[in-house]
Amino acid sequence: MEIIKNKKEIERVKTHIIGLDENLEGGIPINHTVLFSGTAGTMKSSITFNILYNEALDGNTGLYLTLEQSTDSLLNHMVNLDFDLSKINLIVIPDISNIEKDIKSATKKGSLIIADLGAIRKKLKDTKFSSGSDWLNAIFNLIKKVAKSTDLKLFVLDSLAALYVLSKFEDPRSKLFFIFESLRDLNLTSYLISEAPYSRNNITEFGVEEYLADGVIQLQLTERYRKVTREISIVKMRTTNCNLDIFTLEYKNGKFQAMYGGKTPVI
Ligand SMILES: Nc1ncnc2c1ncn2[C@@H]1O[C@H](COP(=O)(O)OP(=O)(O)OP(=O)(O)O)[C@@H](O)[C@H]1O
Ligand SMILES: [Mg+2]
Repeated sequence: MEIIKNKKEIERVKTHIIGLDENLEGGIPINHTVLFSGTAGTMKSSITFNILYNEALDGNTGLYLTLEQSTDSLLNHMVNLDFDLSKINLIVIPDISNIEKDIKSATKKGSLIIADLGAIRKKLKDTKFSSGSDWLNAIFNLIKKVAKSTDLKLFVLDSLAALYVLSKFEDPRSKLFFIFESLRDLNLTSYLISEAPYSRNNITEFGVEEYLADGVIQLQLTERYRKVTREISIVKMRTTNCNLDIFTLEYKNGKFQAMYGGKTPVI
């Protein structure tokens, strides 16, 4: 890593959430590994997909690995959210054994490459692998293969919790350290989805992820007088002067928006 001379040299990737980028000096610094942490249904998948979608439109290639939800189910959800998938170069990888053929069309102009657990499972079945570390190897093989054949810039892992189920994390700190370092070594800006327990003081499963990550963005549902509001806040972001306040999150007209105020709704 090179040491910069001026903070203006820090390149950033937008979160594509209106109102949040303005509070993050423009976005997440490139090469950061950031956790998107939130309970069920807090739009973790939608927000990270939205980043890759908009970056693909801007000419930057990203890989979305969905371990929990199938590719079809995820894409159906995105179409329901009014994403026009015909506008981007979308590449679905059905099986990582044939990946070279599938990513041939991932030209330099920006693509969204998506793979699910099934794509990796086939390969593991072929080679009769089953132990936990093989899953992690298979995932890094996939990332490396894609990075070799494309100008891969961004990576989403949906989710860390699913990875914990597949791969035994007996020594979580060292294993997670390996994952975070490997992603940085690949020069990727990475978004790791983490399914958070219900407390703000307890953001992640092992309680070490938030220290190893370069940034943490928290998503939550807050109940006030029976009205539930979506909220988003930046818990930490290295090399960034950010606003740590809690913003109301809305998805309207195909755009995510973080609004300041978080007023108590009128009842
Ligand atoms: N057209 C829509 N407009 C706004 N919100 C929608 C729309 N369709 C679905 N949603 C919301 O999106 C939520 C799910 O989003 P998403 O799958 O991104 O969340 P998640 O945090 O990844 O969920 P999970 O915990 O299941 O992985 C639903 O709970 C629903 O409230
Ligand atoms: Mg999800």
